[in-house]
Amino acid sequence: MKRKIVTLFVISIFTINLLTIHSCKHEPLSKGTDEELYNFAKETNGYNWFKNSDKQLAKSSGTGHSQPFLRTRYNTVASAKLDANGKIISGTSFPEGSVIVKELFDNSTTIGRYAVLYKNTTHKDADAKGWVWGYINADGSVAAKASDKGDACISCHSQTDNIDYMLMNKYFP
Ligand code: HEC
Repeated sequence: MKRKIVTLFVISIFTINLLTIHSCKHEPLSKGTDEELYNFAKETNGYNWFKNSDKQLAKSSGTGHSQPFLRTRYNTVASAKLDANGKIISGTSFPEGSVIVKELFDNSTTIGRYAVLYKNTTHKDADAKGWVWGYINADGSVAAKASDKGDACISCHSQTDNIDYMLMNKYFP
């Protein structure tokens, strides 16, 4: 009898612990399109860096992104629109399947968030120009939903001298 009580006691403590750990979990992880873009962001194979350099850049004066440092890379499809210096060819429009990932750093070593642009004209979350906009924290939680279709992003990214919405060339000439 005594043993049974002890066993029950141990089991209930264990269960309470599990529940506590579970309830401390972070915001909901990305699903659907956000997860699709998050998976793109975490893949680094086949990407080329802006200006052929993986060095961190300090965010520009025009930025709408809070993290102090950044790096931007282009998948193989998007890289077709980079010149020999790794800058975007002026006046270009990116082809279907282009993925552009901006890594936003909290400090010199830690990525805090990814900003992702994915050209897929027939995607359910594509905007009028065929871009899908992702904004996902490094832990997989969502900073701005892809289903918002770039609502919080497009007006700033449409400013003078953008190239197909891109601003890296303008602020890092
Ligand atoms: C107030 C202006 C502003 C807003 C709002 C803004 N951005 Fe940006 N973004 C910039 C600037 C400026 C850059 C160039 C790099 C830098 O200094 O951050 C940039 C760079 C980027 C890049 C790298 C590609 C490139 O060449 O532009 C991506 C991807 C991006 N932003 C995505 C987003 C997303 C997604 C949102 C909305 C959730 C957003 N941006 C909102 C100003 C803005």
